Amino acid sequence: MHRLLVQPTDVVVPPFPMAPIVFVTRPLPEPGSGLLHDLGFEVRSNVEDRPLTRAELMAGVEGSDALLCMLSDRIDAEFLDANPSLRVIANYAVGFDNIDVAAARARGIEVTTTPGVLTDATADLAWALLLAAARNLGAGERMVRAGEWTGWAPTQLLGEPLRDRTLGIVGMGSIGQAVARRAQGFGMHVVYFNRNRVSPQIEASLGADYVTFDELLRRSDFLSLHAPLNGESRHMFDSRAFALMKSTAVLVNTGRGALIDEAELVNVLHEKRIAAAGLDVYEFEPTITEGLLELENVVLAPHLGSASTLARGDMVRLCCENIVEVLAGRPAVTPAPG
Ligand code: DGY
Repeated sequence: MHRLLVQPTDVVVPPFPMAPIVFVTRPLPEPGSGLLHDLGFEVRSNVEDRPLTRAELMAGVEGSDALLCMLSDRIDAEFLDANPSLRVIANYAVGFDNIDVAAARARGIEVTTTPGVLTDATADLAWALLLAAARNLGAGERMVRAGEWTGWAPTQLLGEPLRDRTLGIVGMGSIGQAVARRAQGFGMHVVYFNRNRVSPQIEASLGADYVTFDELLRRSDFLSLHAPLNGESRHMFDSRAFALMKSTAVLVNTGRGALIDEAELVNVLHEKRIAAAGLDVYEFEPTITEGLLELENVVLAPHLGSASTLARGDMVRLCCENIVEVLAGRPAVTPAPG
């Protein structure tokens, strides 16, 4: 895993002639934006725990050297043109579909993300959703809370077993691999689809077989999505894909909502053309697609993939480290791919 270099006590702050300005778009967990202050930056922050409007974002960032932003902040060419002082944009996420990276780099602005530090947290959450969806935990919890549980029953909320079943992983980057590693403990077979096949060593260590997307859809009992969202992957789960899946399949998404055509997912879950889904991310986040909330066979989480104290703290450190490096004229530690 990536070693975090920036610690409040041992960092050597570059000799900036004047404190560079960093704009932070949302309150951060420990060590918080105070770390940037300790590193010698002038920190300007949104102190309200809500996403900024476009106008607020534009006004807040004006004159800044660096931006530490969230996945809910849209950074496009218009934004970049309005902010020529920016030299680095540190996205507080591993996904970066909210940023036009090519447009930023064309203007000499580096874009960085937070890979590595949230891998385990996100893989754990994918498994939490997989287990919850497979074993009807959402429906069960609702029943108990509603006072409708009358006691143990042989036929109650029967779910899908995991052992000897096939887990299909879409996107075999570090999070996909961490999900595959955990599957070994459940005695599952793993197949995966990725733009590029991973090395034979990694395949062997994970016991994972590379298959085409269609084969993965046909063979998988459980599917977990970890592909980045881009023009190619948007709506890769559409009516064609759902038609190839097993009627007993369980679909888990901790990647990005728009990997799935959510309106179609609602139909498919409603008609039991797949068994269940576990979602952490949504196509129109935070708006939930009509029909999803009424379904019993879907478990819904509020984008918690990286939400562990360790991961979220390390994401702060990694963003700060990237800002230090770029403003000091050195290469970013974790530049956005592409
Ligand atoms: C990410 O990092 O892209 C997650 O969705 C939020 O942490």
